[in-house]
Amino acid sequence: MNKMDYQLIDSGFGEKLERFGEYTIVRPCSQAIWSKSKELSKAWSDCNASFNRRQGHHWEGRDAIPESWIVQLETIKMKLKITNFGHVGLFPETLNLWKNIKEKITAAKAKQKRNFQFLNLFAYSGGATMAASQAGAHCCHVDASKGMVQWAKENAQINQIAKNPIRWIVDDVNKFLKREIRRGKRYDGILLDPPSFGRGKSGELYKIENAMIETLENVGKVLNHEFSFIYLTSHTPGFTPTVLSNLLKKLFNNGSITSGEMLLKAVEGGGLDIPNGSWSCIDNI
Ligand SMILES: C[S@@+](CC[C@H](N)C(=O)[O-])C[C@H]1O[C@@H](n2cnc3c(N)ncnc32)[C@H](O)[C@@H]1O
Repeated sequence: MNKMDYQLIDSGFGEKLERFGEYTIVRPCSQAIWSKSKELSKAWSDCNASFNRRQGHHWEGRDAIPESWIVQLETIKMKLKITNFGHVGLFPETLNLWKNIKEKITAAKAKQKRNFQFLNLFAYSGGATMAASQAGAHCCHVDASKGMVQWAKENAQINQIAKNPIRWIVDDVNKFLKREIRRGKRYDGILLDPPSFGRGKSGELYKIENAMIETLENVGKVLNHEFSFIYLTSHTPGFTPTVLSNLLKKLFNNGSITSGEMLLKAVEGGGLDIPNGSWSCIDNI
């Protein structure tokens, strides 16, 4: 059950070397301004594929990797694919978050009699939805991209939770939240990972600096009075743990707030850990 098919092997000179199941991949990593580990030079040169932005978005060795493959990340399986933007369908720095969400839901369910309602906003390929559903939550998964919601549904099938109570919503987050407010829908746990820049279902522009406050205000209106947690994460430069916790402090005045860096932890004997975004959480204890 504890199989972990992801490893950060090394990083340096603006790149990172990661293992996803049986494939090792090199991708850009602007934070890794240090040098690569000399002892790992063979691992770098033996990589299966690499992505760079030197001549436009460009993969080398793409043929060495199947169109899609499945990895096991402890209790969660994820289908991965090489995309034209260098993503593979997994942000590994969020793995810890999935674990925490699962623990928080399990603890809350032990205390409350009703179903736990979990809302995953900007939900991408659905790792957190898988975690929450495995913990027994009723989930609502929202993303503006039809393709990403389809990918998340495939992940639910692979994890054998497709029949669990999960609402799959293809919509702009702010439009969806306004509808939920009107319908009087309430949630016990909410995760939101607003992108620096995104597009809603009908092309609505989402720029974090303009749209996130509205999203957070709407989140406040769909929270159950006795909610369990709100997790806010960001990959946007400058949105540090302090910035995220300040935002939560300004908008919500109950609960205890913690925050930190999202980290890609290097494998033992490998290179250095890499910070990749920030998180902040309100626990309503
Ligand atoms: C950075 S990814 C989120 C990563 C994900 N939370 C994870 O850790 O795996 C951003 C996601 O937000 C979606 N998105 C962008 N703008 C949106 C909007 N206005 N409404 C809903 N989803 C949006 C994108 O389709 C994409 O899947």
